[in-house]
Parts: sequence; structure tokens; C-alpha cells
Amino acid sequence: MYGAVAAVKDMSLTVRRGEFLTILGPSGSGKTTALMLLAGFVVPTEGDILIAGKSVAAVPSYRRDQGIVFQSYALFPHLTVRRNLEFPLAMRGMNAAERATRIDGMLERVQLKDLGGRMPSQLSGGQQQRVALARALIADPPILLLDEPLSALDRNLREQMQGEIKSLHREFGKTTVCVTHDQEEALTLSDRIVVMRAGRIEQTDTPEALYDRPATRFVANFLGEANILENPGFEVESDAAPQSGSVAMIRPERISIAVPTAPKRANAEQCQSVTGILDDMIYCGPLRKYHVRVGSSVLIVREHVASGQQTFRPGDEVRLHWLRSDVRFVAV
Ligand SMILES: Nc1ncnc2c1ncn2[C@@H]1O[C@H](COP(=O)(O)OP(=O)(O)O)[C@@H](O)[C@H]1O
Ligand SMILES: [Mg+2]
Repeated sequence: MYGAVAAVKDMSLTVRRGEFLTILGPSGSGKTTALMLLAGFVVPTEGDILIAGKSVAAVPSYRRDQGIVFQSYALFPHLTVRRNLEFPLAMRGMNAAERATRIDGMLERVQLKDLGGRMPSQLSGGQQQRVALARALIADPPILLLDEPLSALDRNLREQMQGEIKSLHREFGKTTVCVTHDQEEALTLSDRIVVMRAGRIEQTDTPEALYDRPATRFVANFLGEANILENPGFEVESDAAPQSGSVAMIRPERISIAVPTAPKRANAEQCQSVTGILDDMIYCGPLRKYHVRVGSSVLIVREHVASGQQTFRPGDEVRLHWLRSDVRFVAV
């Protein structure tokens, strides 16, 4: 609780040893608060936090054995890279010779070998990010906590650092909790993802399961794109029985698009097929997105661009097909 605001409510979560767990949610959903509770910077008003079976809710952050990377990196601006890395080792009472060896090894590992004497202000965003990661890992804590670690980086660098974080996780095997609002980052990095909404956990699962079988409309929309077929103006056929309080959903890449006169497909028996009018085509590099008006709804279709493939123009009549088994039901 921050005053009258409960930033995180009814949160019950078990992090497995060695896993990479991501807390994903929109801005203001309570992700940072959840991480700060885990880190010991915020004391829970109610409830408990256990590490390896022992309660740590009342243990201050600096007495816990964990590495933290803050969104802003929080490097010590008046200390060189080497001194930044030395800090957690000195805190743990390691002697100077051993500290130097550790720092050399870590600088090498994160490709900053020649930059140990620089001040943080003399580094690029990606280099600062590497120093922050190195500082979190250097004392070899069993737990690593990351708050939006890549959000300050541009796209290419972000992808490169995603790979870097993944390989550090494989190599060091730290139990890692990462907070992000970036769905792609969560899907790429995580063993499991916790989706948060307004201070509560909406769903926890593996990236594949969350994407393929979202439990709620919120998760379906937050992780990727979704066609929610609520009163679509045509009957939705499905293999699964619809449950009350749920709506049908299909992912845009599960729908295929063709001219209305196209021959019947081999698996036509298992498909639903509808006709519609193309509203819009959006070119996005490796794929095309079509907006197709069917009944009273507009369906999004996503297709990979193959050479020589038929394209459609706004106003064209088109036929859409999808497998009935690809229709999901999500709680509203
Ligand atoms: N120190 C604070 N005092 C009062 N309210 C706060 C404080 N920190 C966060 N909040 C509120 O708690 C909620 C969750 O915030 P936060 O955990 O930072 O979300 P996220 O990291 O998902 O963006 C928000 O409504 C935010 O305004
Ligand atoms: Mg935050």
C-alpha cells in the first residue's frame, strides 16, 4: 500500500530455482512495486515473501543476496566502471586481489575490457546497460532482479542485449525475475510470464501457452494481436464448446486469405470459411496485414510475404478460412 493505494493485491507467486520469470503488464499495473517487494525496498503491508523457505519480508535489501538492475541503471556517476563493479564485492568484504581478478573476468565477459577506467557518462546506453548487468552479477548472488532492463535502448541494441541477457542466464543459471511492459521481450526471454493487470495477476504460464491459450481477453490483446469475435455478425464454428462469460478469439496469423473463386482446400472439412470485403492492407516488411470486413466486424489477417504471392487491394472481395480448432474462448 502506498497511502490509500494498493499497488499490488492478492499476489501469490512461486519463482522456481534457476528460472527466468517475467512480470509483464501495462504501465501502472504494479510491476515495479512487485519487484521492489521482492527486492526488499518496499515492505508488504500484508503477506510474506520467502526465499528458499525463509521469510525475508522484514530483511532490508542490502542484507539480501541478490543482484538488481534498475530501469535507470543507477550506476554510481562519480565512480569509474571498475569501481562500480568493485562496490558489491567490497560490501561483501572481499580482498583487493580477489576483487581485481573478479572484475577483470567480468569486464571480459561483458565485452568492456578496455573501458574499466571510464566514467558512466563516457559510455553509450548499451555499455551502461552492460555495466549494470555486470555489477548485478559480479558478487555471484543466486537471485537477479531486473526492472525494464532494456527499455532505454533503441530497437537493434535491445535485440542484441536480449540475446546477451539470455546467454548470461544460460551461463550463470541465476533465478531471475524481470519486469517489462514489452511483450516481445517477455516472449523472447522467459521460461514463464506473469501477466499483471491493475495490481493483480491475470495469468501465469509459459510464453507458448499464454500466446496460444490466453485465459482472458486482456491477455489475448496484451500478448500479440487478437480477433475477438463478439457478436461478429456471423456464426462462429468451433471444436470447443463455448463457455458462458467467454468470447471466441482467433489470432490474425491463423486466418488465411484467398480470392472467392479459389478451389476448395484439402482440409475444408475442418475449416470455417467466410467472405468479406478488404478494407485496408498494411505493409509491414516481412508481413502484410489485411483488415477485412465480415458481417459486422473487421477481422485482421496477417500473412507472410512470399514472392509472387497474390496481393489484394481495398474493395476486393476475399474469402477467409481458418481451422475450427484454432478458435479459442477467452473470459471477458
Ligand atoms: N511511491 C508511490 N506512492 C504512491 N503511489 C505509487 C507509488 N509508486 C507507485 N504507485 C502507484 O502504484 C501503482 C503501480 O505502480 P508501479 O508498480 O510503478 O507500476 P508499473 O511498474 O507496472 O508501471 C500505480 O498506480 C502507481 O501510480
Ligand atoms: Mg515500472
